Amino acid sequence: MPKKLIDTFGREINYARLSVTDRCDFRCVYCMAEEMTFLPKADILSLEELLTTAKALVDSGIKKIRLTGGEPLIRNNIMWLVEAISELDGLEELTLTTNGSHLSQYAEQLRCHGIKRINISIDSLQADKFKSITRTGNLQKVLEGIDAAIDAGFESIKLNSVILKNRNDDEVLSLLDFARQKNIDIAFIEEMPLGNIIEHNRLLSFCSSDELRKMIDQEYGLKPSQKKTNGPANYFSLANSKTHVGFISPHSHNFCGDCNRIRVTVEGRLLLCLGNENAIDLRELLRDPKINNAALITAIKDSMLIKPERHYFDLSEEPEIVRFMNATGG
Ligand code: 5AD
Ligand code: SF4
Repeated sequence: MPKKLIDTFGREINYARLSVTDRCDFRCVYCMAEEMTFLPKADILSLEELLTTAKALVDSGIKKIRLTGGEPLIRNNIMWLVEAISELDGLEELTLTTNGSHLSQYAEQLRCHGIKRINISIDSLQADKFKSITRTGNLQKVLEGIDAAIDAGFESIKLNSVILKNRNDDEVLSLLDFARQKNIDIAFIEEMPLGNIIEHNRLLSFCSSDELRKMIDQEYGLKPSQKKTNGPANYFSLANSKTHVGFISPHSHNFCGDCNRIRVTVEGRLLLCLGNENAIDLRELLRDPKINNAALITAIKDSMLIKPERHYFDLSEEPEIVRFMNATGG
């Protein structure tokens, strides 16, 4: 019988985002506080534990794994894990989301280990603004990383831009033009209220996908696209261009109805939903000598019983979810 993970709402869960570190060399204003305390080493899964987790996920019915962080490429020996996961029997696709800062060093190796698609975050093409949004990031390094990814020949490269009102909403068309020139895709993301931030007011900085879509449509003419990437983005195509434009709208267009995903944090918490705390502790199981792969699979299957139907985000209230995105697995 084919392995399948089905939740109580009849959704097939075949996609897992596996966070390999909560650390990052950037401090993006929507993702982290300026001063962050990261997890002590003993609390995070070892590379071997991450591999055991990935195997159990695949053996439970997960077909696609995305490595996330924090910034996955700053985890020591990350290429060992990439190679080992990419060889798991039954896994159809391994992908990665990165901030691009170390991509010029790793793009080629990632491609060689069978990663076909990659997401790169970039919120501004102006060095000073890029610095102010990421607090520590160097735009030039990321641009070099994007070029290295293009040279490495990934089948698909997608840029992710979180758009904040009066911050980088004036750069939407330049970001899109950049993606067009490079023949790669881009998705614009509405900020999600994960973790308490004081740097900006999330309600005031909210920029809806509809507004961006209208603006781009006026300039270029958008056509709905068939493109589906296993994710929550709605894609459009542009005339005379291979570039697809996606909109990820956790506020304005709830996408939970066709949710196909779960997340594993680097502490080994299997989170059933981005906007809820429902979770099971895989780390406890991974560190219990009596627990084997079969028991992990049972735990993952049982977790389907507590997968919530949807998230409710309310920007006018204190965030209900106090974990930051870097601790959630972006
Ligand atoms: N809301 C929306 N997107 C976020 N990201 C990080 N934090 C948030 C948030 N609070 C994005 C990053 C990156 C992806 C991994 O998640 O910009 O593109
Ligand atoms: Fe790092 Fe990504 Fe969070 Fe920015 S959004 S701080 S790049 S993990």
